[in-house]
Formats: sequence, structure tokens, C-alpha cells
Amino acid sequence: MSTTQTPGPTTAAAEGTPAPAVVRSTLDAAGQEAVRDRLQPLLVDLIDLSLTAKQFHWSIVGTRFKSLHEHLDEVTDQYRMWSDEVAERLTSLGVAPDGRVQRVAGDSPADPAAASWIHQDEVVTEMSNRIEAVARATRQRLDGLGDVDVASEDLLIAILNGLEMQLWMFSAQEA
Ligand SMILES: [Fe+2]
Repeated sequence: MSTTQTPGPTTAAAEGTPAPAVVRSTLDAAGQEAVRDRLQPLLVDLIDLSLTAKQFHWSIVGTRFKSLHEHLDEVTDQYRMWSDEVAERLTSLGVAPDGRVQRVAGDSPADPAAASWIHQDEVVTEMSNRIEAVARATRQRLDGLGDVDVASEDLLIAILNGLEMQLWMFSAQEA
């Protein structure tokens, strides 16, 4: 579809369509595709992390319950903030993000979190593993991104910095 096309106003009004199908972009189609290829999977990863951390927040057991229960809520807030920033970077480039539960479930490479009580030691290891996997994927997604869009590169660098700080704080608890 051409980036200059807009839906006819009469048709949109008649069918109740709330918004035009196309948002203006400063990138060409190839640039949009390159950014989508990197940011859409990161969006999926971050939504998955937010749901998993919240699941552990509810189901963790052990003597360190209080501190980890609160720590998990802190990182959940970060994943939610980052996922919003990633989705809105896509929209700012005229690319529609997909954060639906069906897309996340279908695309996320991570295993589902346990649906039962989970011991604190297992939570720490699970979170460390999952954060490390997303941080490594984020490093790969940064490769060449700056040649296409430095603002997206800047966002991913900030998220990588935060993920690796989280990795430090969870993995230090494995000792
Ligand atoms: Fe809570």
C-alpha cells in the first residue's frame, strides 16, 4: 500500500472506522520493514516478560518472599513502560504494532511460566535466564539499526542498559 493513500472519508464514516489506515512516516518502506523486524519481536519479548514477572509476583514462595515479590513488581512496571515506548516508536514511524495476547503467545520464544507456586530460588534463576535471553536478542537487534533509524537505536540501547542492570540484580541473588 502506498504511504500516500488514505481511506475515503465517506466510507470511513459510514463503517465507523476510527482512524486512517496509514500514518505518515519519515522512513521509506524498506526502512519501516527493517525497524519492524527488530522492534516487533522486542515488543513481544517485553510483554511476555511483564506477564511472567507478574505471574511470579503472585506465585512466589520462600523466606525472601517480601523482597522478591516487590522486586518483581518493579521490573513489571519497567517492562510495561518499555513495551509502550517500543510500540509507540513503531507508530511514530508509521508501523502498526501488534501487542495482542495471541501474537505474544505465538511469537514469544520463551517457555510459559509455571502456573503453580514457585520457589524463590527457581524464580531468581528463571528471571535471570529470561532477562539474559532478551538482552542478548536486543544486542543482535541493534546490529545495523543505527544505519536505518538512530532514534530506535537509542531506545534499544536504553532498554539494553536497563535489562542488563536487571540481570545483574537477579543473578547476584543466585549466589
Ligand atoms: Fe501485587
